[in-house]
Amino acid sequence: MIKIRKGNIDNIPQIKKCLIVSWVDHAKNVSELLDEERMRKSDIEGYYKKAFDNVKEAFILIVEVDGKFAGFLRADIQKIPDFFKFNNILYLDDCYVLPEFRRMGIATFLIKEAEKIARKNKIKRLQGRVYSYNKSIQKLLVKLGYTSPHSTWDKVLI
Ligand SMILES: CC(C)(COP(=O)(O)OP(=O)(O)OC[C@H]1O[C@@H](n2cnc3c(N)ncnc32)[C@H](O)[C@@H]1OP(=O)(O)O)[C@@H](O)C(=O)NCCC(=O)NCCS
Repeated sequence: MIKIRKGNIDNIPQIKKCLIVSWVDHAKNVSELLDEERMRKSDIEGYYKKAFDNVKEAFILIVEVDGKFAGFLRADIQKIPDFFKFNNILYLDDCYVLPEFRRMGIATFLIKEAEKIARKNKIKRLQGRVYSYNKSIQKLLVKLGYTSPHSTWDKVLI
């Protein structure tokens, strides 16, 4: 059975393991910008403790399959400039599903649940940052109706 629940600080070690795998993958794919060693040493505990301490501004959803941790999603409520039509947004920060539970609709389930929470909080816009190489999440987001109206462009001076 697939179940979603709100996370708590006891989930930080599992979340950390997933994030390191995910961030190292980012670093390998975007090696011109990201430092793998520094990503491994990031203060994930601190970053997540802050979210668990600020329940009005952030939430973490955990998915369990038959009682086993299968993945998570972190979302932050953010204010963006007034010239946007909807300037209170839900920022989808981290989303990770353990490899053995992928392609079962779990990330879809997590994002839809985050959308429900956004609606309850009268938030009309969701946003996330996705690396160009990460086609899996892009396909998923397109299926859920997300678009990419802008992108970040980088150049490293040598
Ligand atoms: C990206 C990720 C979250 C997807 O989780 P998931 O639970 O497997 O996703 P879903 O089962 O909900 O997939 C829904 C749809 O997205 C697309 N999709 C998901 N993974 C895909 C993949 N590896 N290749 C191609 N399409 C993919 C498909 O269209 C899929 O529908 P289908 O299975 O009917 O074809 C998961 O692969 C993951 O944790 N990856 C590592 C972390 C990461 O990249 N996170 C996102 C950015 S922070």
